[in-house]
Amino acid sequence: MARLLMLGAGIEIYRRYILETLHGRGDEVVLIDTVPRPWTEPFVRVSLQADLRDREEVREAVLPLHRQSPFDGVLTYDEAQVELTAYVAALLGLPGLSPGAAARCRDKRAMRDAFEAAGVPSARSVLVHDPDGAAAAAAGLGYPVVVKPRNLGGSIGVVRADDESALRAVFEVAAGAGFARIDPEPGVLVEQYLDGPEFSVESVVRDGEVRICGITDKEVGFAPYFEELGHVCRAPGTRPHDQQLIDTVIAAHQALGITVGATHSELRMTADGPRMIEVAARLGGDQIPYAHRLATGVDMVALTVAALTGEDADPEPIRAGVAGIRMLYPQHDGVVRTLRAPDPAAGARHEMAWHVEEGREVRLPPRGFLSRLGHVIATAPDEKELHARLDAAVASLHIEIEPTPAPS
Ligand SMILES: Nc1ncnc2c1ncn2[C@@H]1O[C@H](COP(=O)(O)OP(=O)(O)O)[C@@H](O)[C@H]1O
Ligand SMILES: [Mg+2]
Repeated sequence: MARLLMLGAGIEIYRRYILETLHGRGDEVVLIDTVPRPWTEPFVRVSLQADLRDREEVREAVLPLHRQSPFDGVLTYDEAQVELTAYVAALLGLPGLSPGAAARCRDKRAMRDAFEAAGVPSARSVLVHDPDGAAAAAAGLGYPVVVKPRNLGGSIGVVRADDESALRAVFEVAAGAGFARIDPEPGVLVEQYLDGPEFSVESVVRDGEVRICGITDKEVGFAPYFEELGHVCRAPGTRPHDQQLIDTVIAAHQALGITVGATHSELRMTADGPRMIEVAARLGGDQIPYAHRLATGVDMVALTVAALTGEDADPEPIRAGVAGIRMLYPQHDGVVRTLRAPDPAAGARHEMAWHVEEGREVRLPPRGFLSRLGHVIATAPDEKELHARLDAAVASLHIEIEPTPAPS
């Protein structure tokens, strides 16, 4: 049992399991967020409002609380709060990332520089400020390239361009992208396109030691955009190239100076070996750590708390299962008319949730990003059975989208 300061509640559909897990363990959670988050009430001991963009206000809120009853740890699972969390950890004298490590994890330009300096395989990447600069950078790198915002998330505004006219056409998608809770840094990155299957490696760092908790096979779609369509979560070491992925991810952590806490590292296996995309200094999104717990029994939430407090905890899998998440996307822009799932009492072998309500307008990239209708999660003893269960789960849903009329 720990007394924990949590910065930011995040989005309920993706993050509820974390607060539920902490509550179930008996941890005492004090949550600070900019606005009230009623959904968190059953799980947190105290909820405070302070503007998370204002360090002075956060400082005023946390110091008296810590004086009254000291926290054992401070954490966040919200990408937007990674640097604030490092600041508060230092303020309270608790384990946390150094400000430099947190900054490197929040700026894709600084991250690529750190990888290059340490010899960690990644992508060549150039910061540009206008379409002509982008075209010049791409000419130097060679097509295809990826253009992306410098410090956002959720693949928002990330696009592949196969030639100069495509690059000029999509430049503004990256340059004009926005993401709630994060102020975009000026400039856009033009990067060498890493071709190959994508993975994420889920880890918890404890006293500088990177403990690998799971490997996730990603399905990405809606090219030339990179919407995350699905994840298959499995134990590390179940595929021949896993060790190469793990070695690269450990080197990436050293390059960035990540010494404590949960991380989510994204990379692609190219013909020349693994290449880093990025490391996020928090638990992965899309309920990936939850699916890993269903698959193998490894509880990354508990391991993260243990890394902060020094509790004993073991990241070894206790089952050899797999779990998968399928995101439900519309096939075209339109208004959601019907969302129907079979009665859960009918004995479904999956979990599911809708992310939108009937009547909502949905738009695919570049008009809208992360336009998910819902998701399903299933577990299975092996991958073949997992895909059969996910397919059956998706087939059991009834979804109707009324297409948006083409502009006249
Ligand atoms: N250089 C690259 N080569 C190939 N794909 C990339 C590259 N950079 C990004 N992507 C794709 O775009 C996705 C989102 O990019 P990422 O840098 O992870 O930004 P975000 O913060 O939005 O997650 C990645 O998961 C990957 O699929
Ligand atoms: Mg990413």
